[in-house]
Amino acid sequence: MNNNTLPAILGGTPERTRPFMVEPMIDENEERLVLAAIREKNFSRYIGSHSPDLETSLRMTSAEAAAIEADWHFLGGPNVRAFAAEFAAHFDVPFAVPVSSATTGLSIALGAAGIAPGDEVILPAISFSATASAILLFNAIPVFADVDPLSFCLDPAAVEAAITPATKAILPVHLLGNLAEMDALLDIAKRHGLMVIEDAAQAPGAHWRDAKAGTLGNAGVFSFQQSKNIMTGEGGMIVTRDGEIARRARLILNHGEVAFDDAASAGDLANIIGLNARLPELSAALGRAQLAKLNLVNEWRTRNADILRQELANLPGLTPAPSQRAEGGPAREVPHVFAALFEATAMGISRDRFVAALRAEGVPVGTGYPRTLYENPTFMKQIAYGDAGCPWSSDFYRGSVAYAPGMCPVAEALLYERFIWFYHIAHASTAEDMRDIGRAVRKTVAARDALAGAPEAIFSEYSGHSQGRVGVAQPGAREARGT
Ligand SMILES: Cc1ncc(COP(=O)(O)O)c(C=O)c1O
Repeated sequence: MNNNTLPAILGGTPERTRPFMVEPMIDENEERLVLAAIREKNFSRYIGSHSPDLETSLRMTSAEAAAIEADWHFLGGPNVRAFAAEFAAHFDVPFAVPVSSATTGLSIALGAAGIAPGDEVILPAISFSATASAILLFNAIPVFADVDPLSFCLDPAAVEAAITPATKAILPVHLLGNLAEMDALLDIAKRHGLMVIEDAAQAPGAHWRDAKAGTLGNAGVFSFQQSKNIMTGEGGMIVTRDGEIARRARLILNHGEVAFDDAASAGDLANIIGLNARLPELSAALGRAQLAKLNLVNEWRTRNADILRQELANLPGLTPAPSQRAEGGPAREVPHVFAALFEATAMGISRDRFVAALRAEGVPVGTGYPRTLYENPTFMKQIAYGDAGCPWSSDFYRGSVAYAPGMCPVAEALLYERFIWFYHIAHASTAEDMRDIGRAVRKTVAARDALAGAPEAIFSEYSGHSQGRVGVAQPGAREARGT
């Protein structure tokens, strides 16, 4: 490492010139299982709803389904059923239902739980867009509540305040691997007769007391998109202890074909809108090998997060988000992305300048999602199905939700002023990488007076919410920027 104190964005030497390595942990087990599936020419051994004993299949636990020796089955081929059974065992639930993504999984779980058009579902103001769109997909109404300033997950008091006669469910998101306050949220749900569907896309293996995130509510949903702690390229899993939710989810995701006899009641048929949201056999094969590594990859991220937390300690204007594990409470997070909280007054420069300077040092950082969910045009303009305001304008909706900037001040402060997200705690980033990040951050903090006095134009090249342009500020490039 160099002793250079001049920030790279002002023409100094970047602290880091090598790119950071983030990639799924893959070894011969993934190769073996996927190759075996290919050699068996086994890509989607699904049999339609004319399969014998459909009702028996729909009600099976994942372990029972995996024990059936059949290549073709309504619940999928051998890898899909084995993955479901192994996932259910790991998460200590009877039912795990593989799906094509967490987005489809969340929507299917809500549909299976009986959420109807015009029902309000309360979710946090900060999440990936899919959490909100999954609610719209069944014509339900997203109602956004503010988040806790340190866990970034639903604030139970804000949830309680958002409940109306139209509320049917709470959808907590375990954001960045942190746990939402599940005792309080489950208590609110019980008192008001609400369903709880957990978005655990970013928190596979996180714990609330002895239970894993995703298994505390009526159903929970995981994502296996490539950036997640374990992945299948794309994919997801619904977990539940409720046999009826599993049964209905299995119908919805498998075309929801005419699965009931003519005597089926309206309740039996409600929400059985057919999708094809199956996880392919090859993805399930990958998932089985990945699941076996879940603890390992979580330990990897935790180790890096702990080092980064030490590296960023005791700096003016930047505070690492606390570890829920370290607090000794009921929550034990599994870090997904590492967050630190920025304070412009104490730092003496704007967050944009700080982030741009860090990126110029070769450290990719972000500022979180670009805006709160409710500030996205879909909600501000209330346009989803067609352009006439459905589902908000439909006769099914008896409430009067409004979306406006300023609604959730904690969420807005986190996104617009405070969040700095470090993405590179995942495999294969190392302890040495965390120390490089630490050095780059400390160098940037130490140079904040110089950065405060620099012309605005030099920072714009490195602007943006996501990781932005990361790179080495070359002398030539600096000249080209006219500085
Ligand atoms: C919190 C959250 N919910 C839902 C999703 C959607 O997952 P998927 O990409 O598997 O549909 C993601 C990420 O992609 C997420 O981060």
